[in-house]
Amino acid sequence: MSKITYLGHSAVFIEINNKIIAIDPWLSGNPLCPTQFLNPVSIDLIILTHGHSDHASDAPRLAKHCGANIAATWELAMIMGKEGVSENKLIPMNKGGSHDFEGITISLTNALHSSSYDLPSGPVYAGEACGAIVRHNNTSIYHAGDTCIFSDMRLIGEIYNPTVALLPIGDRFTMDAKQAAHAARLIGCKIAIPIHYKTFPQLASSADIFKTECHKFGIEVVELNPGESLELS
Ligand code: NI
Ligand code: MN
Repeated sequence: MSKITYLGHSAVFIEINNKIIAIDPWLSGNPLCPTQFLNPVSIDLIILTHGHSDHASDAPRLAKHCGANIAATWELAMIMGKEGVSENKLIPMNKGGSHDFEGITISLTNALHSSSYDLPSGPVYAGEACGAIVRHNNTSIYHAGDTCIFSDMRLIGEIYNPTVALLPIGDRFTMDAKQAAHAARLIGCKIAIPIHYKTFPQLASSADIFKTECHKFGIEVVELNPGESLELS
């Protein structure tokens, strides 16, 4: 059994094989993150899709506080090292690659987006933006990160066979709802969970269009409010 907990924006905690994996855990500073989740005591692995502050800025704090590992592109992993995360906790990776983390397979996929990280001296290059796949036994979960739609999402579906896809729907900086529904169709997921919306005035304020568009393709949408979970058998 595994459990997906949504903490607003793109922050997702996945409990799988008795481990807690946090993808883009932007908690402190995230206006949607419920206060009781701001200081989690246990995270085993943090996966970062890219360096933008609404995804990666809280990762050094959480990694140090929880003793968590961080998996990210080579460049972003090195930045996390500069931010004080122990070298032996860093798992540098890149797109197409997989890593076995305590029996859980994590993989980085393509995403089409930019990526930089804000240091006090200014923004620095943080490698390319990615999506992430988390697999254990028959469970496969795809977090698309920030991205526009791209036709190779069909290959991501064929290769990793995700049953659940977490897709940005907010528009402006990522796919909009209609593109995201087409993405879900290309991926062939059973369940689509909308992310990266409602956080700021520039982003879509509801998932209604996403639901309507997904239903045209026979894809179930599970909208999670921040703090809510979806359990997978
Ligand atoms: Ni971004
Ligand atoms: Mn973003």
